[in-house]
Amino acid sequence: MRKKITVVGAGNVGATLVQRIAEGGYADVVMIDIIDGLPQGKALDIQESAPILGFDARVTGTLSYDDTAGSDVVVITSGVARKPGMSRDDLVNINAKIITSVTGEIVRRSPNCIIIMIANPLDAMTHLALHLSKFPRERVFGMAGVLDTARFRTFLALELKVSVEDVQAYVLGGHGDTMVPLVRYTTVAGIPISELLPSEKIAGIVQRTRDGGAEIVNLLKTGSAYYAPSAAAAEMVKAVVFDQRRILPCSVYLKGEYGINGLVVGVPAKLGAGGIEEIIQIKLTPEEQKALQKSAGAVKELADILKL
Ligand code: 2OP
Repeated sequence: MRKKITVVGAGNVGATLVQRIAEGGYADVVMIDIIDGLPQGKALDIQESAPILGFDARVTGTLSYDDTAGSDVVVITSGVARKPGMSRDDLVNINAKIITSVTGEIVRRSPNCIIIMIANPLDAMTHLALHLSKFPRERVFGMAGVLDTARFRTFLALELKVSVEDVQAYVLGGHGDTMVPLVRYTTVAGIPISELLPSEKIAGIVQRTRDGGAEIVNLLKTGSAYYAPSAAAAEMVKAVVFDQRRILPCSVYLKGEYGINGLVVGVPAKLGAGGIEEIIQIKLTPEEQKALQKSAGAVKELADILKL
């Protein structure tokens, strides 16, 4: 039997994610929203592409959480996206209300599921869902590092005129202005990036990565990114559904790893059927560790607002 995945939210991120999951043949998908017609219409539209694209996944749109019962994986995309001039953190109170209600509905009907958070501010919303669900940390984590790393790899590949596939990198920390692209661990076909680009160029690409979400918001004006975010989430869903044990940067609740305790922060993790199967601890220089602590400090401010 195919696995069952629920995507909460039929907006741009949610619907594009459903499309990617269905087209990849990963699982049957239920898309839920509160706007009557939106999840049903988009789901049916995606389902009708199946004979052309050749997938058998069942795609259902619904307004009722009862249809999500028994999901193996639930991806939460619901929440308000930022507008130009807003930071992700400006969304904390409004999205906390939405995530509180969604988490309650999901946990009641899918008590054994894995929750992947996408709503912003990402790390705080992941922490909130973890707290409310009372699930172990292995089963509640967030998508941010895969997206931030994809942006970093894209900009490097464009600059060097090489395939993105040959660019290896990690972006750690919170999904915000203080995220930490790890330049020292960034390589192109195994060659350290510091041997390929001057430091000012690398610094510019690091900054563009940090501002990557805002760059899209400023261009779109009425919403935020969704093609790359949905691709990033789909990669994480795939790792879980197919028990791939991918090493991907995930937003995870830390219990002392990297010297951080009681906060959700992006770190490399092994992602498989059980969710977060291992947190990978890589050696950081004092400077990198300081940058990660600063990023964790920004995450803590939001966790404090939510009294987590
Ligand atoms: C981004 O970075 C929306 O946070 C998301 O594009």
